[in-house]
Amino acid sequence: MATYTPYQEKSPYLPFGENKNASWYGKDILSVKQFDRSDLEYIFGVAHEMAEMVRRIGTFDLLKGKILANLFYEPSTRTSASFTAAMERLGGSVIPINEVRYSSVAKGESLPDTVRTLEAYADVIVLRHPEVGAAALAAKYARKPIINAGDGVGEHPTQALLDLFTIQEELGRVDHITVTMLGDLKYGRTVHSLARLLSLYNVKLNYVSPDILRMPREIITEIQATGTPQFEYTSLEPVLAETDVLYVTRVQKERFEDPEQYESVKDAYVITPEIMQAAKKTMILMHPLPRVGEIAMEVDQDPRAAYFRQVEYGLYVRMALLAMVLGKA
Ligand code: NCD
Repeated sequence: MATYTPYQEKSPYLPFGENKNASWYGKDILSVKQFDRSDLEYIFGVAHEMAEMVRRIGTFDLLKGKILANLFYEPSTRTSASFTAAMERLGGSVIPINEVRYSSVAKGESLPDTVRTLEAYADVIVLRHPEVGAAALAAKYARKPIINAGDGVGEHPTQALLDLFTIQEELGRVDHITVTMLGDLKYGRTVHSLARLLSLYNVKLNYVSPDILRMPREIITEIQATGTPQFEYTSLEPVLAETDVLYVTRVQKERFEDPEQYESVKDAYVITPEIMQAAKKTMILMHPLPRVGEIAMEVDQDPRAAYFRQVEYGLYVRMALLAMVLGKA
């Protein structure tokens, strides 16, 4: 088995290789509720080394011979492509099933049957599905690890991990910061996961949304129990100047029952160069992407616009997660 040790300082996370005693070996990743701060420190340590290795050598054989099934019942660009890239950069391979309408799902096959079939071919399954709890259901039936890549309006744990890793790498810390989440906080699953993860740290959370797209009550209540201060607004203006991380989300058109209601809120907020001028010089602007107009293109040149760097951090975090659940880190 190929291992790799960098020539300069020794890292506690290296060398990577057979590690079946690792705490994440064989585990599912279904919700951010599974993680505590020491888990996050470990994941980010491994992800950091993955980044170094990709920069130095591009691809290496840690997961040679391993197979990932990428099962997507909802559209995706970044999540599915980054899991594929992560697997292939580690020497593994991928069975992509992203057009479920051309698979046996279109014949009426149930999720438990589909995952029990795929695990006969693959070592790990990444699943995106429109229903809350779908990943947990799949995990109940599967013997191999299931990684939740988004379950409806529920959670998107790997996105939240890469979001947090982005904050850590860009600001050098997660404690003592103010994070403002803006946009569709009701249907946006990435903010549901991210707010929960941030509540493990010493942060202040601001939620800015139209009234009909507020952060769900049960999540606010859950986070309240951690003592994390949370504040709700309908306008960005009062909190912009104190914000260290501005996390913008897309209004989730596909989740609205009433198209008129979508029309009434779709352009609620747009980040422009003028808004960036009023923000901290050290602020970072994040977005899980895709954006559909919430951030003007002219903002992209601003060094504080971190969303394309965020995409890259996602590759390293997913490499780390795959190595961990497959017993190699
Ligand atoms: C997000 C998602 O699917 O929840 N996309 C992603 O994975 N980066 C955000 C969105 O669709 O708005």
